[in-house]
Amino acid sequence: MTGTPPAPDLPEGLTVEALQQLCVRFATEAARFIRDERPERVGVAATKSSETDVVTVMDRRSEELLHRLIQQARPDDGILGEEGADVAGTSGLTWVIDPIDGTVNYLYEVPAYAVSVAVVVGDAHSQGGWVPVAGAVADPSLRLVHHAGRGRGAWTGPEDPASGDEPLRLSVSGEDRLGRTLLATGFGYDPQVRARQAEVLLRVLPLVRDIRRIGSAALDLVRVAEGSVDAYAETGLNAWDLAAGWLIVLEAGGVVLGAGEGEASAPGKALTVAAGPALAPEVRRLFVTTGDAAG
Ligand code: IPD
Repeated sequence: MTGTPPAPDLPEGLTVEALQQLCVRFATEAARFIRDERPERVGVAATKSSETDVVTVMDRRSEELLHRLIQQARPDDGILGEEGADVAGTSGLTWVIDPIDGTVNYLYEVPAYAVSVAVVVGDAHSQGGWVPVAGAVADPSLRLVHHAGRGRGAWTGPEDPASGDEPLRLSVSGEDRLGRTLLATGFGYDPQVRARQAEVLLRVLPLVRDIRRIGSAALDLVRVAEGSVDAYAETGLNAWDLAAGWLIVLEAGGVVLGAGEGEASAPGKALTVAAGPALAPEVRRLFVTTGDAAG
């Protein structure tokens, strides 16, 4: 159905379709939870890499919910989550989860945050050592869920399947000129990394149509897949930020690249670039030559 390489071997009796349905179900349940059970005051429960890198009580509760749902349905699979879940499975599959991607937006009630759930084959801890098989990014503010299964296309559907709204197939923009590119990007939490990212932007901004800083890497990738931005580039991403969005972009006809060759050609900490096939190498070149691919 799509040009994406076929799914790696799955445990016997399991299909990509079944995994995709589970991704949608888990992401949707967690999205409803963080929206509908949002406390009147969402406080900062802890900080991580820096004072600006916050965790709310809802990040933790959402990850606990996802953990429980995954273990009920797939007890032999591994789990790797942003808030610390790290379960070694025995099936060869690992669930890579971000319980709230865009936590700062969630904290401030800016409606651009998401729950990202992907299932991957390989070693989810190692750069270039895993590939996503199915994934879903649920957007609680818009009550939508974006999802893909390897070889099955990328789709946006309503959070409530009984709403009667038909799922829409996603397709990346056909833009191929840097000068006409609307480029999404994001910034890490470490002040030194941010200073370097700002320097890179000084050089990139005059060359593109404009930039957008949406505040959720998962939604940035979905935006590339649906063509509402032309490209996305960011350094410093973790597996949970990009696992589901990576597959959604691929299945929408796009390309997702890392900084270099071999293992480094996979997206990750050093660099993640997503765009249509004509544009992606140019955007990558721009970020590599402007020195923002150092991690
Ligand atoms: C962050 C968001 C943000 C991106 C950061 C991520 P979090 O994830 O995706 O857009 O720029 O690099 O860390 O912390 O909100 O889950």
